[in-house]
Amino acid sequence: MSGSTGPARAELGVIGGSGLYALLDDVTEVAVDTPYGPPSDSLFIGEAAGRRVAFLPRHGRGHRLPPHRINYRANLWALQSLGVRQVLAPCAVGGLRPEHGPGTLLVPDQFVDRTSGRVQTYYDGRPLPDGTVPEVVHVSAADPYCPDGRRSALDAARDAAWEPVDGGTLVVIEGPRFSTRAESRWFTANGWSVVGMTGHPEAVLARELGLCYTSLALVTDLDAGVESGGGVTHGEVLAVFARNVDRLRTVLFKALEGLPVTRDCVCSHALDGLSTGLPGVPSP
Ligand code: ADE
Repeated sequence: MSGSTGPARAELGVIGGSGLYALLDDVTEVAVDTPYGPPSDSLFIGEAAGRRVAFLPRHGRGHRLPPHRINYRANLWALQSLGVRQVLAPCAVGGLRPEHGPGTLLVPDQFVDRTSGRVQTYYDGRPLPDGTVPEVVHVSAADPYCPDGRRSALDAARDAAWEPVDGGTLVVIEGPRFSTRAESRWFTANGWSVVGMTGHPEAVLARELGLCYTSLALVTDLDAGVESGGGVTHGEVLAVFARNVDRLRTVLFKALEGLPVTRDCVCSHALDGLSTGLPGVPSP
């Protein structure tokens, strides 16, 4: 992809969650506008493992945006408009089982959407500011995460001696409040593994653009139904994230290195044969 080598181009993307607001050294800061409005922040483009990487802090610098106010469409659009085709997405989550305690790294293979009112598609039939109208497109979300990205993340964690949990279901709540004990116990009873606030619609919007998307869920607390104490606090989430952020960075760099240069996964074929009506999507 020749277009991904210029200063404002990248092929790999990282969306940093709570507590991860910067990743790369020697970055070029790029403000990107999108048909959906501004992303959470500038994109910071640099190099890792010999490849161009764009970093975007999901909540904005200084954690300005709560999960329900993040412009997920703008974020994914901004990344893909720079040439990004593979995205790693770390996030803070609560554990729904005693064995998934703080410091656990889980690479989910499924999610359940318990959000409400979030815009979750590019294909809503409404014209963009330039007058183009997206087609009606239904992508498969059966396996919402990239199998190659997951493998790379798991290998990277093992290399860093951080034994990850391979698979599990991330339930995504609307927030910004944490769950009640009853909600939390219900999530556990359903067999779900971890709970977070940002994994949806991020994963499906990536799929709608034909991007590879991999979630790396860092457990910062045991959720209210598992822990008998006073419940989760945001301070606890940030403190545990901060304690793990160095090894998370190490894993991210290794995982970026392990991402395939040529894609042939389910994500890369998500839009095969479809006309999207979106400018530049799909693009090689
Ligand atoms: N993010 C971190 N911990 C969480 C929890 N317990 N519930 C929802 N989101 C979280």
